[in-house]
Amino acid sequence: SGANALATAVGKLYFGSATDNPELTDTTYMTYLNSSQHFGQITPENSMKWDATEPEVNTFTFTEGDQIADLAKSNGQILRGHNLVWYQQLPDWVTSNDYNATGLTAVIQNHIAGVAGHYKGQPYSWDVVNEPLNDDGSFRSDVFYDTLGESYISIALNAAHEADPNAKLYINEYNIEYTGTKSTAMQSLVTTLQADGVPIDGIGMESHFIVGEVPTTLVENFQAFADLGVEIAITELDIRMTLPETAALLEQQKQDFYTVVDACLQVSACKGITVWDWTDKYSWVPSTFSGQGAATPFDDPAFDGIVMAL
Ligand code: XIL
Repeated sequence: SGANALATAVGKLYFGSATDNPELTDTTYMTYLNSSQHFGQITPENSMKWDATEPEVNTFTFTEGDQIADLAKSNGQILRGHNLVWYQQLPDWVTSNDYNATGLTAVIQNHIAGVAGHYKGQPYSWDVVNEPLNDDGSFRSDVFYDTLGESYISIALNAAHEADPNAKLYINEYNIEYTGTKSTAMQSLVTTLQADGVPIDGIGMESHFIVGEVPTTLVENFQAFADLGVEIAITELDIRMTLPETAALLEQQKQDFYTVVDACLQVSACKGITVWDWTDKYSWVPSTFSGQGAATPFDDPAFDGIVMAL
């Protein structure tokens, strides 16, 4: 049985994968990706980001995003929209036009109305704000924070709610999967947003882990978010190693995938698990972390770790 079939059988909403447009012509790859036994959910790895959807002011391009959205629809898969406001893959015009607070507010609102409005009704959830925090828990200095302070987060969430009232609105972040300063800061942000009446439904735990270093406090940490009344999702799971892969590393990785999937199963507020692509062939890891790879589960014993947990 496939991972999604198993995950839904134990009460999760989905087991899914990120995918990117160039991969959609790989027929072997597509045989797996199209199978809702394996994948009940997909996330566009790049094609709904700001640089892809609004490369010039108020000029929207949805061709590639639509390809992923249409694929999800025809496969009966849940779509996670990713992402609306992020400091990376941001077109130059957003930073170079020197917008003041009023101007940048309008830019954010117009972007979100354009993109989330275009896909209205289809995504289960949107990563509305991506990676807003530094590792010490402070807000990341970027064009949004530097111009608007933390108000950019509520501006974005409110705009997303207006554009697509039924989508679950998420903040997505890394290094908040375990207890500690950054996780606590994210919990404070959730509490503040809730107190201000800002729509916030979920927190995405990216989960780009390293073999042998998977956090031991996942369950306790997930539960802390659940206790605030938000749902969570594992949004970008991969577990990388320093190459070359060895039998020992692959065995540890299998344990590590088991640990992560099992943690999601232990917390009912954890809705689903998305791997950041399922085959090493298309993983972002080797080109991002020099000397590392073999991070995805489906071509390794790691897959058995997932099935064991489910
Ligand atoms: C990555 C993609 O996988 C790459 O193809 C792209 O070049 C850069 O972005 N956190 C996120 C994702 O939220 O959007 C990033 O995806 C990985 C880190």
